[in-house]
Amino acid sequence: MKYKIISSLFVGLLAMNNAFPIAGAEIAENMELSLPPEKSQWFREAKFGMFIHWGLYSLLEGSYNGHTLPDASFKYGRSWYAEWIWKRLEVPDEEYKALVRQFNPVNFDADEWIREAKNAGMRYFAITSKHHDGFALWDTKFSDFNVMNTPYGKDILAQLVNACKKYGLKYGFYYSHWMDWEYPGGAREDWQDVKQPSNEEFQVYWEKKSLPQVKELIEKFDPDFFWFDTWGSEGIHITPARRDELIRLVRANSSKCLINGRIAYSNPGNNVDFIEMLDNVYSKEILLKPWQTPATMNRSFGWHANDFNWKSSSTMLEHLFNCVSKSGNYLLNIGPKADGSFPVAAVRRLREMGAWISANNEAIYETSPVPINVDPNQGVYLTQKSENEKNYLYVTIFKPVENLELPIGKNSLRVIDAKVVETNQPISFSQSDNELVLTIPQNIFSGCQIIVVKIEIHNS
Ligand code: GLC
Repeated sequence: MKYKIISSLFVGLLAMNNAFPIAGAEIAENMELSLPPEKSQWFREAKFGMFIHWGLYSLLEGSYNGHTLPDASFKYGRSWYAEWIWKRLEVPDEEYKALVRQFNPVNFDADEWIREAKNAGMRYFAITSKHHDGFALWDTKFSDFNVMNTPYGKDILAQLVNACKKYGLKYGFYYSHWMDWEYPGGAREDWQDVKQPSNEEFQVYWEKKSLPQVKELIEKFDPDFFWFDTWGSEGIHITPARRDELIRLVRANSSKCLINGRIAYSNPGNNVDFIEMLDNVYSKEILLKPWQTPATMNRSFGWHANDFNWKSSSTMLEHLFNCVSKSGNYLLNIGPKADGSFPVAAVRRLREMGAWISANNEAIYETSPVPINVDPNQGVYLTQKSENEKNYLYVTIFKPVENLELPIGKNSLRVIDAKVVETNQPISFSQSDNELVLTIPQNIFSGCQIIVVKIEIHNS
């Protein structure tokens, strides 16, 4: 059995029936604003998701007027994030907004995107319905700055939602509820010398665009979650009252839609459903509340033609295991090109990860973390599950090692079998009072690179 949520609405218990139990309670603050923890069960189990940053900024590919991000000759130009180009490379407002007349992704195929996600082993999908620039990828009644007014003229989200339903992926929307650079009262870049809208001005944006669009997204698409975005400097606009107003709106219109912690990063309260780490930041410990890390394949979220800092698929698999072994999820981003295609560098990495995961998926899905400390530099990650009354410990090894010592004393736990998941090759082991030692034949690493050892444990 995997971890169980016992109880009513108040107590979530993690991994109680496994060989290595983890216990803890999660207390919801205000029942009217909370969803019961069972509703986020799918999220806990999903482990791996696809994130998409796509919009008008994709047309600029990280460069404008002979300058490419990051560019220190601009006061705030030191960032790789191509989705911020309007502000960081100081594109004149009218010029940026005129990109609407160019957006025509003739190679966009929703089915293909979601198929890639599915084949990569991803179980959910998140897309920027509206990023900070304010441009909406769906047919919205509450702003003309949307995809229907481009030469393309078709609702992007509607197509993706259909594809997610077809392939059985959960789906949700990134929605920039705080910053909106197009709408007069939306929050501006949180930089020292940038004038922010007054409370009254922000309230107009809040009531006329932010809240109505969130409601509209729920009514039109019935999302499984919202990915709201703030990172700590939101306090003057996103007060606890506004945060709760938005939570209440989502709860009133959906009985399933999860909400992430970045709705108010510095003060999320206890009613959000999962914690959102900062970009490419990983938890160092197991957390009781579900969480995820949004991560880039290179350094930018939006498509950046000159960002050559691609991570290898094995590095990204290690990040995935780093998350999963601490009860978190890995939300891996792709920045599609403006024509609607995925960069080939991203596709190759996705497919490599998917190929490895298809052979080793039992160490990932429906697993729980293991409360045993392993040296973080060792490249070793532990997960566990119970199945048909048997307990399994999975040891996923990213760095070659000959004798792997794990601090698993005998106590009442007896190891009875160890083998490589991909090939069934037996692995010899010895168990003392203090530790379990696995002896790994070295030729495995040249053949399989990343290996998972499945260990059967009896709890006598
Ligand atoms: C940050 C950035 C943003 C990106 C997001 C993804 O909040 O502002 O560009 O969408 O992180 O995690």
